[in-house]
Amino acid sequence: MKTRVVKVERAQLGAFENPPGPTRLDNWSVDAVPESDLAALAEAARCLREKDTPVAFPTETVYGLGADARRSAAVKGIYAAKGRPSDNPLIVHVCDLQMLRSLLTPGDGNGDSGGEDPIPDIYRPLIERFWPGPLTILLPSPTPSKLAPEVTAGLANFGARMPSSPLALTLIKLADAPLAAPSANASTKPSPTAAQHVLDDLDGRIELILDGGACTVGVESTVVDGLCDPPVVLRPGGVSLQELRECPGWEKVAKAYKDHSEEGKAAPRAPGMKYKHYSPKAKVVLYEASFSQGSDGVVPEDRDAVPAANGANGDVNGNAAKRRKIGVIRTQRWAEGAGFKCENLAPSNATQDAVDGAAADLPYVVEEGDLKNDGGENIGRILDINLGKDIRRIAQGLFSALRELDRRGADVIFVDGINDEMDIAGAVMNRLRKAATESRA
Ligand code: TXA
Ligand code: MG
Repeated sequence: MKTRVVKVERAQLGAFENPPGPTRLDNWSVDAVPESDLAALAEAARCLREKDTPVAFPTETVYGLGADARRSAAVKGIYAAKGRPSDNPLIVHVCDLQMLRSLLTPGDGNGDSGGEDPIPDIYRPLIERFWPGPLTILLPSPTPSKLAPEVTAGLANFGARMPSSPLALTLIKLADAPLAAPSANASTKPSPTAAQHVLDDLDGRIELILDGGACTVGVESTVVDGLCDPPVVLRPGGVSLQELRECPGWEKVAKAYKDHSEEGKAAPRAPGMKYKHYSPKAKVVLYEASFSQGSDGVVPEDRDAVPAANGANGDVNGNAAKRRKIGVIRTQRWAEGAGFKCENLAPSNATQDAVDGAAADLPYVVEEGDLKNDGGENIGRILDINLGKDIRRIAQGLFSALRELDRRGADVIFVDGINDEMDIAGAVMNRLRKAATESRA
């Protein structure tokens, strides 16, 4: 199967029809958009209606792999392309509340019968504040449901999200179908935040990737269940716990995922291999945020382990040493080079700019330089990415940085973790802990 990447310019693609107020999100309209502007999306929408091969498209969180959520054959195509276990349910993406309501009414009901709103009251303040945006809510499936059974993997509830990306909203509208869409990575890989990442994972397995540039949020949506008491967060994501707690009825929202304390902080070097998720090829060593230590880089034991791992430690001739590539992802604490001896560090985005015609869309600069040992010998390369101190920027670049260091052949990636209490840092650290091969206190 040949995979095509089609660029969609970020023009005004559509708009909510009603002015601000209770009906603001009822109808996403593309009526005012010239047909020529919609050509690429119309083609993708046709594929979604007529074929059983999923289409990759950008959202503000990560790229999704979409299929008509009502057709079993199409939904099965998602599991096949990703290699995803069939017991992991999919999120249903809607373009407006009209589409959501129709999924909450049984059989052929269209959802706007004029009666009671089928959307549970508990979600009203969340929808008002965070939709369209990076929040997924669990809703009861009516009987019979319009959704294909493969979407919910046998569960009584389904997850729904209204993305804020105008491109995604317009695609859903043109397909005239709710889209089941997981992240468009191969199972176990980091989620894709650029079209290139989707191509790297799924080339030859799908026909079409819509390229809308780099995702702005960079981590997946927050998944909440408001149907239980107290309501819970099933997955931390682009909406923070603090933001949820500010909403009426959500003051006591609890975490229903394992955070750091439950994963056993006592064993700082515990192998994290059981969390095989979001994993690049390289070994990932995560430094948890321990501000008390004031660390500005990788500890000496880790630095010394680098040449030793090659059996090249103490090689005075320097010629037996395999040239190691050390990746560093810096955030709030580490200095340039993260404590490694390096030379000639210089920006090198340009060298990796385009592969197969799809731009890498890197929201940071990669610095490359020579890696030295204590004797000043050249023992490899250092690849240094500074995501900066801002948590939203760190989230935006995280998955991309892991993938970029992989693509440049890093043997090991050291990551400067952050305090997971702040803003959406909980989502960042949750993903990093799953990606990490080892962690340091
Ligand atoms: O931001 C996102 O949410 C992205 C974009 C594409 O929208 N999608 C995404 O989908 O991350 P996926 O499939 O990679 O992750 C969906 C998560 C999984 O952890 C899944 O178990 C959970 O949501 N989920 C979906 N439906 C559920 C349900 N009915 N009950 C419980 N958990 C559910
Ligand atoms: Mg995923």
